[in-house]
Amino acid sequence: MAPSPIRRAAGVAVGFLAMLSEAQTAKTWQDYTPQNRTLSSCPSYTDYSQKPHEPYSNGPLALPYMRPNPGCRTFNSSAVEKVIDEVKSRMKNPDLGRLFENTFPSTLDTTVKYFDSDVNLAFIITGDITAQWLRDTGNQFAHLYKLLPHDDNMKALVKAVINTESRYIAEYPYCESGLKPSVNV
Ligand SMILES: *[C@@H]1O[C@H](CO)[C@@H](O)[C@H](O)[C@H]1NC(C)=O
Ligand SMILES: *[C@@H]1O[C@H](CO)[C@@H](O)[C@H](O)[C@H]1NC(C)=O
Repeated sequence: MAPSPIRRAAGVAVGFLAMLSEAQTAKTWQDYTPQNRTLSSCPSYTDYSQKPHEPYSNGPLALPYMRPNPGCRTFNSSAVEKVIDEVKSRMKNPDLGRLFENTFPSTLDTTVKYFDSDVNLAFIITGDITAQWLRDTGNQFAHLYKLLPHDDNMKALVKAVINTESRYIAEYPYCESGLKPSVNV
């Protein structure tokens, strides 16, 4: 039996909607303009990290505090702050405590260049190079996976990282790194 005109019209409408939503997805990916995560007055961390910053640890090494100012961190996670406080309070050596405090949040503090949970895209720089390396990103987050159940925003971030990298690979199967979403290589 031939489909009724109404059913046919509905089929066409559904097809059209599917096309529209596909076009929108493509538009989002191609035309996406990432928003800066930090104020333009924030120093680049590559520059900031060249000099020691106060306060210094109370241990014999007097290690500097190298986290960016709170307003210049690229991602905040209260779950990560809680771990830092707990671990530091249990460490007897203040220099080791400072090392942990500087390094554990470093991925979130300094490398989340862009993140938009609505379009599910994120761009994590490797550090000195402003590109997202597929292998390195996995390692940059390796110590944070266990905290994901305690932080929905960080969960969304990792999901966006996976989505962004899937898009890099789908478009460029031999790529090992990508530039920010709108100028992907
Ligand atoms: C975003 O940051 C880049 C440098 O990382 C800068 O060139 C650009 O002007 C900034 N855009 C805004 C809107 O602050
Ligand atoms: C992180 O929190 C600080 C306040 O402590 C805020 O100024 C900053 O904008 C936040 N950063 C992000 C990326 O949300």
